[in-house]
Amino acid sequence: MLDHLGNLERTHSCGQLRASDIGKQVTLMGWVAKRRDFGELTFIDLRDRAGITQVVSNPAVSAEAHAKAKELRGEYVIAVTGKVVMRDEHTRNPKLVTGDVEVHADQLLILNDARTPPFQLDAAPDALASEDLRLKYRYLDLRRPQLQANILLRHRVTNEIRRYMTAQGYTEIETPILIKSTPEGARDYIVPSRIFPGKFFALPQSPQLFKQLCMIGGLDKYFQIAHCFRDEDLRADRQPEFTQLDVEMSFATLDQVYSLIEGLFASVFKLINVDLPTPFPRFGFAEVMARFGSDKPDLRIPGLELQELSPALTGTDFAPFASALSSGGQVKGIVVPGGANLSRKALDELQEFAKRYGAAALPWIKLVDELSSSLLKALGPDTVARLADLAGAKKGDAVLIVSGKPKVVAASLGALRNEVAKRENIIPANVYAPLWVTDFPMFEFHEEDGRYYSMHHPFTSPVDEDLELLQRAVEGGETDLLAQIRTKAYDPVINGVEMASGSIRIHRRDVQRLVFKALGMSTEEARQRFGFFLDALEYGTPPHGGIAPGIDRLMMVLAGTDNMRDVIAFPKTASAADLMIDAPGEVDPKQLEELHLRIVQD
Ligand code: AMO
Repeated sequence: MLDHLGNLERTHSCGQLRASDIGKQVTLMGWVAKRRDFGELTFIDLRDRAGITQVVSNPAVSAEAHAKAKELRGEYVIAVTGKVVMRDEHTRNPKLVTGDVEVHADQLLILNDARTPPFQLDAAPDALASEDLRLKYRYLDLRRPQLQANILLRHRVTNEIRRYMTAQGYTEIETPILIKSTPEGARDYIVPSRIFPGKFFALPQSPQLFKQLCMIGGLDKYFQIAHCFRDEDLRADRQPEFTQLDVEMSFATLDQVYSLIEGLFASVFKLINVDLPTPFPRFGFAEVMARFGSDKPDLRIPGLELQELSPALTGTDFAPFASALSSGGQVKGIVVPGGANLSRKALDELQEFAKRYGAAALPWIKLVDELSSSLLKALGPDTVARLADLAGAKKGDAVLIVSGKPKVVAASLGALRNEVAKRENIIPANVYAPLWVTDFPMFEFHEEDGRYYSMHHPFTSPVDEDLELLQRAVEGGETDLLAQIRTKAYDPVINGVEMASGSIRIHRRDVQRLVFKALGMSTEEARQRFGFFLDALEYGTPPHGGIAPGIDRLMMVLAGTDNMRDVIAFPKTASAADLMIDAPGEVDPKQLEELHLRIVQD
């Protein structure tokens, strides 16, 4: 028989009682985490989101409460009233903040029973049930203290964000979810219209155009904790539905954006007792790509920078290097400190790893007493020694080398830099290394379809000096110049994670038109997709700029997890499904009919 809660109220949480509360009569409510019987006594670990308190039932205190305690199973929901008592010295638990005390129950109510959970809630982190099972029963997984801590921290973070942005004079403004496509490089989730047959809304990939329209609307400083939707290939650091702190300001300079965001991150990191070093160092895109092979370098990693090796290779007839160098490619390497003892197996593994990023092979040099290298036969000892020297390797080190197109060299050595640092355990713990990456190219050329795409999005402003290049490229037909145009875009990066992305925007209609044209969009297509925005640009648009930190990414860094699902209450799987509510799901044929849709089977 279940008991009624009636008017009984909690006096304390399960994480609250201390030795100073001895003698108090208290009422706690929560879930039975564990029940143990010791002869006459029953011990209950009572859990709520604040912690665990030990409850003891003893027939000498209350026979009735004791009888109920015997009925308890894991995850039953109970209310306990009783006296706070100091535990015997040898039974104190220093691992629990409430571990000095226990509550001796004189009343126990069973408010609800529970089926045996499909997995153990208090399993050690490395013995957790499969993630799919936990996602199906997410409401049970959420009872785990670690997930609860992440979700509570997330609340403190969004709270701090709202406080900080408001103090800086920003206004929180909601923008619509049912909109027309805003391109951010992913596919749209679309919503069919019942009222307009054959027409669709798109869910926002970001509120980009609306925040710019807020600036045109004179709202001056905007922010929003915004839900964004992107139908894209997922990775560990991406969800199809995620949250951004979306920010935009009128009359913005680069320095204003930098200091706003540095202050924001600094105040948020204080929540985990970290003093983030500000101002963040700034690196141009070209520099980070050359030195770290990545536009989101992990600056915690000491050294392991990419070294240009081509000066040692002039006139080489070793085909892989010769063909790379004669076709605008590169030969670069990284030094693995102490890498001379890398085994053949480890080198093979690293080569396989590099191949995933497009490298054809991973030649190596080891500086042991005698020079050892997979290149000895092909290049001879002198050239190999010069390569090692150019790379800056010392005795005991190894050099890993990649040749090919600059993109491939950067991608594979950049990824190897992180991988080697992880394997060699040289990333210091509890260090946060922020930086800004600036001066991104405006366009990138995709060889698959032989055209240029925006590197950020098409509303990003070119740097003032390169505006003329844009005009010449589009109006004068000098298309190759597009590759040289730099933007006023910036990404803050912390510990190798792209935390945000932003830019000063285009505020002139003529420039916006040029960019659409450069992207191969005809006037009609631009009109059809963005006519409302091009019109708005004609009515006195202030210069403006902004940024959007990803809150889920930020939370991953703050919570110290590399799984984004650990910081989202109800996340989706890597295949963009919700296992708990079983979505996406089928809809009633009648609903389809109303929406003027018919399913075509493949
Ligand atoms: P961008 O597309 O770079 O820029 O996104 C900004 C930040 O949002 C986060 N993010 C994601 N987080 C989780 N899952 C995803 N699928 C995902 N995609 C992006 C990242 C990223 O840095 N409108 C522009 C911003 C601007 O220019 O102001 C935009 O959305 O942390």
